[in-house]
Amino acid sequence: MQYLTMNDGNKIPQLGYGVFQMSSADVEKHLPEAIAAGYTHIDTANAYYNEVAVGKAIKASGAKREDLFVTSKLFPQDYPYQKCKAAIDATLERLDLDYLDLLLFHQPYGEYVDGWRAMEEAVCEGKVRSIGLSNFNEHKIRQILDVATIKPAVIQVQMNPRWNQHPLKAALADEHFVWEGWYPLGHGDKALLSLPVFKELAQKHGKSVPQIILRWHMQEGNVVFPKTTNPAHMASNADIFDFELTDDEMARINAIPQRTYYSVPEEAPAWVWGPNDYSKQA
Ligand SMILES: NC(=O)c1ccc[n+]([C@@H]2O[C@H](COP(=O)([O-])OP(=O)(O)OC[C@H]3O[C@@H](n4cnc5c(N)ncnc54)[C@H](OP(=O)(O)O)[C@@H]3O)[C@@H](O)[C@H]2O)c1
Repeated sequence: MQYLTMNDGNKIPQLGYGVFQMSSADVEKHLPEAIAAGYTHIDTANAYYNEVAVGKAIKASGAKREDLFVTSKLFPQDYPYQKCKAAIDATLERLDLDYLDLLLFHQPYGEYVDGWRAMEEAVCEGKVRSIGLSNFNEHKIRQILDVATIKPAVIQVQMNPRWNQHPLKAALADEHFVWEGWYPLGHGDKALLSLPVFKELAQKHGKSVPQIILRWHMQEGNVVFPKTTNPAHMASNADIFDFELTDDEMARINAIPQRTYYSVPEEAPAWVWGPNDYSKQA
């Protein structure tokens, strides 16, 4: 496994396993398979309603806690300072863990500036090792930087070769964030997966198109956690460390015309505010 070092000095595995849109039953079945296949980095969220199952699957896997890297995310109704402190404890309780490796604010709405202090205190209390943001644009990231005594270590945004986020990364290069890409394979987007350049590079390297795309992410310095419930995909998605794309091949992929996928609205859409009762998990 390859690791990146975050701006707080902690290390993060560059490839992980995401559990978005997985039922608790799916998580309990497939997460132990993923851990057995070598995945040590797990990306979940309060809003995925499967943290209890993630905790059970970790226990069932027999993996040592210190060998795993576990991320969760808080939703905006829990950002106000006091609520944020309670939500961090509730997250740990659902996961049945003593600490999180990474905790993110999931969506850029509500009292995220106020809540950041609770995130920092959780780091000082040993409840969370690293903290970061998801789906925040540049000006909202800078609002956090203006108040931070511990700055975000990670920014998680949607990212794939047709939306490489180069402008956002360049604008914030001085902050030395680790960039995480959600929907790293475009969530199965056929228009992405069928681009001729990937087919050509897959043939040349004796790899599959998803492996070429995941390898591009690795060489871009992104952290990704593709989701799959297919054990063959689990194995092949992790089999990307025995070949390298050349500079010319990376440049060809980076020349792919860009398009916007999910454009995060400036104001909160109604669905952000719930009802979000994370104690109700099947
Ligand atoms: N912060 C946020 O707002 C946010 C939003 C969305 C997602 N995320 C995170 O990002 C993670 C990844 O997103 P995602 O899972 O939805 O998108 P994804 O990883 O880009 O794509 C998953 C899809 O690709 C398929 N797939 C995976 N490996 C494959 C392979 N080797 N060959 C062919 N098909 C393959 C899967 O189907 P099979 O099961 O059939 O393999 C699944 O349909 C999530 O689990 C979550 O942790 C974060």
